[in-house]
Amino acid sequence: MLYRNTFFTTIVCLITLAGFAGPAQDTGRRAPQTARQRISINDGWRFIRYTGEPDTLIYDARPLVTDRNDNKVADTRASEAGVATSSIHALKSWILPSANPFIKDPARRHARPDGNPGSDFPFVQAGFDDSHWQRVDLPHDWAIKGPFYEGEHAVVGGGMGRLPSQGVAWYRRKLDIPSTDRGRSIYLDIDGAMSYAMVWVNGKLAGGWPYGYNSFRLDLTPYLKYNGNDQLAIRLDNPSNSSRWYPGGGIYRNVWITKVSPVHVAQWGTFVQTSAISASSAMVDIKVNIDNESAVDQVVEVRTDVYRTKDMTGKIASFSSESATVPAGKTVELKSAVTIKSPLLWKPIRNPNLYAAVTHVYVKGRLVDEYETRFGIRSVVFDPEKGILMNGAPLRVQGVNQHHDLGALGAAFNVRAAERQLELLRDMGCNAIRLAHNPPAPELLDLTDRMGFLVIDEIFDCWEKGKTPLDFHLIFPDWHEADIRSFVRRDRNHPSVIAWSFGNEVGEQYTADSGAVLARQLHDIVHDEDSTRPATASMNYAKPDMPFPREMDILCLNYQGEGIRDAPAYAHLKGIRTSPLYPAFRQRFPGKMIVSSETASALSTRGTYIFPVTDGISAPVSDSTGGDPVNRCVSAYELYTAAFGASPDKVFAAQDHNSYVAGEFVWSGWDYIGEPTPYYSARSSYSGVIDLAGFKKDRFYLYQSRWRPDHPMAHILPHWTWPGRVGKITPVHVFTSGDEAELFLNGRSLGRKKKGPYEYRLRWDSVVYQPGELHVITYKSGKVWAADTVRTAGDAVRLQLKVDSGAGRTGRSLIKADGKDLAFVTVRIVDSRGVLVPMANNDITFEIAGPGEIVATDNGDPADLRSFPSKERKAFNGMALVIVRAMPGRVAESARLTRRIIVTARSKGLGEGRVVIMSN
Ligand code: GAL
Repeated sequence: MLYRNTFFTTIVCLITLAGFAGPAQDTGRRAPQTARQRISINDGWRFIRYTGEPDTLIYDARPLVTDRNDNKVADTRASEAGVATSSIHALKSWILPSANPFIKDPARRHARPDGNPGSDFPFVQAGFDDSHWQRVDLPHDWAIKGPFYEGEHAVVGGGMGRLPSQGVAWYRRKLDIPSTDRGRSIYLDIDGAMSYAMVWVNGKLAGGWPYGYNSFRLDLTPYLKYNGNDQLAIRLDNPSNSSRWYPGGGIYRNVWITKVSPVHVAQWGTFVQTSAISASSAMVDIKVNIDNESAVDQVVEVRTDVYRTKDMTGKIASFSSESATVPAGKTVELKSAVTIKSPLLWKPIRNPNLYAAVTHVYVKGRLVDEYETRFGIRSVVFDPEKGILMNGAPLRVQGVNQHHDLGALGAAFNVRAAERQLELLRDMGCNAIRLAHNPPAPELLDLTDRMGFLVIDEIFDCWEKGKTPLDFHLIFPDWHEADIRSFVRRDRNHPSVIAWSFGNEVGEQYTADSGAVLARQLHDIVHDEDSTRPATASMNYAKPDMPFPREMDILCLNYQGEGIRDAPAYAHLKGIRTSPLYPAFRQRFPGKMIVSSETASALSTRGTYIFPVTDGISAPVSDSTGGDPVNRCVSAYELYTAAFGASPDKVFAAQDHNSYVAGEFVWSGWDYIGEPTPYYSARSSYSGVIDLAGFKKDRFYLYQSRWRPDHPMAHILPHWTWPGRVGKITPVHVFTSGDEAELFLNGRSLGRKKKGPYEYRLRWDSVVYQPGELHVITYKSGKVWAADTVRTAGDAVRLQLKVDSGAGRTGRSLIKADGKDLAFVTVRIVDSRGVLVPMANNDITFEIAGPGEIVATDNGDPADLRSFPSKERKAFNGMALVIVRAMPGRVAESARLTRRIIVTARSKGLGEGRVVIMSN
């Protein structure tokens, strides 16, 4: 059976009175006062971390944490659910009703109990004086500024990133909702708050949402006073020991007020699909859910028009208009269809064309709502033999896993920072992202739509069985349905999303039938919301003969395809041991496509090389092989891995031996905060192909050599500045998209080598180090293809600064003065000829002049525990990063004037380096 996924997909965009830039001439529409407004309320919050006597406002009792060890191998088996030991008075019953719109069976929905817990707590009172609280704008991550906790028994250990994300915090803000809004429905839309959010409005508990990664809406209408002075108070509670990685803390995504007529398109209320796509036409179906929050039944008419998004000029098609009676307090779904002629398809990476559907809702001929839905037209077939067929053509999955943090910027979502992550990955040849292991900021999927990445959208890292004592398993029984339905409903229209994952390496893989029964339930919830995409969960343990994989539409294997701890170098390790399982899965499930949703877990520290080098192609890192426990680094020969991992070379070979496998998602694209295997006294991971600062590790070029075979490239490692190694064996490896190479040391040939079958690097393992110049010339099919040179560096003499290049070649030295756009400035320590001094670790001090600010600095060293906002940063292996934001300018001024921001870096003995950034 082929799994087909052919449909129109959508980004939901809400039309604001001020912000809509649609083709007014074509529709003649002018938004009336009653139309939808979506207003950002990101600015002007007051914030405090609560350190007083424990309040009595906890969501629910929690089990006592007995095992605080966060240094477990990632494939440790998940445990039984913890048991709550406290009889504390909890607010859960008042929060659960927020889930109701996402609970299908009315009998299972929650009634709100009487009472108004928390009303006597000072912070929720409208009159409370919060002027001494910190003033913050959202998105806000309270923990990212640190300081890092150091040492073995830290409150927050390496697993969660050593940053102070734990504890209770409050946010307060006034809302200016005028009396003219009476009669409208007013909603609070929170894209993400970490975690256990509870919201009071004018002292009344309005609801909340525990899972910190999901977006949610609360209806504020019953609680408002409409006097321009309504008071919001939000309590967040982030337990320590609740995550395997850095969760961040705070309202770390955007927050909106949505104002609509009582009759309106429901939250995430459109879904567009097609039944047939060809070059000449595409059949499109749209479902529109209309909510009637008024007290009387309403007859509605719904009309939807289609536009190309690039220009939004001219309607290209209209769905047939539909009408229905929506009973008071109910929701009705209207369906309609249209044929699009000569559709411009959404094509990954190169041509991700997008469309927009604009839905109008009329009551008695009066326009009451407008709702814009962006979409792309593409078909995806999940073929067990050929892998992914995108619009009919095979497309190999060249993917990576990405966590949600943005390095030194933390969890607070920033579009430019996320775009930079994707730009660098695209340069490597990456075309797919698995969102490990939680729903992203909505804007991330706008980016993957626009940039043409395929996405596996994933929601959970655990179900009933927890991986850390206080993680999601505690709320799974009450919340999984609402979380899954809201997740799918929010994201189901994005063309980039090709599959849903409802679990990663869950403990239920081990429980035979009962785990499979639960998997089936979750699978069916996903399909009830969207039957057009495959629903799956990633498996690092479940085997072909077990019940668990039967429940999956496609088979997402973590590490099992290439085998786990199965090579001789791994023989002494305890844990899951698996021979390469691609063939066995294929044989047992001939109708299901197989893709590796996690591969490699290769580990390295940029620019660090440790000797001797293993002569195998894959080895587990240890303190004596590939690892340096003193400096907490891992060798970047790119041969060392986590205990259950495999080097890229080993993964490539396994995939090439089994050509029906659709491709892979490497663990991981970028380093992320937390999970610093193998050195838990550090702060951030070692598994990224790109380090936390955004600097490429050598592995980047190994993937590029495979994923961009037509791009002439060659890359030599290691660097060639080894004063202590003269006369010593210093292996040289070359990554190239060519097939052959000749290496020269100081002009002398060290031999020409050709890649053998299932070989992906060329290695000269017995080179004896002499300072000077290493040069490689690579060949493809006998013709010169690409070259690379590394030179021994002299003394460090200066600092070289460069702004990130973005998508263009010239560099992003002009950024927007909107308070959000960022410039990422790289500092390199170089010798008199401009050669990077590869082990330079000089202290650098940063300064800024003009209308900009330094947001954070970093150097990509997982063991650097200096706080991110510090303006002083040691270079790490010759490099450092400073992230700059332009201060928001006044509109009139910024429209015309370009303002100069000068970033200066100074280091003793190296003078100063500068870069000028313009902002407007
Ligand atoms: C996997 C897990 C990931 C991450 C990775 C680390 O087993 O699914 O979340 O922990 O290992 O190498």
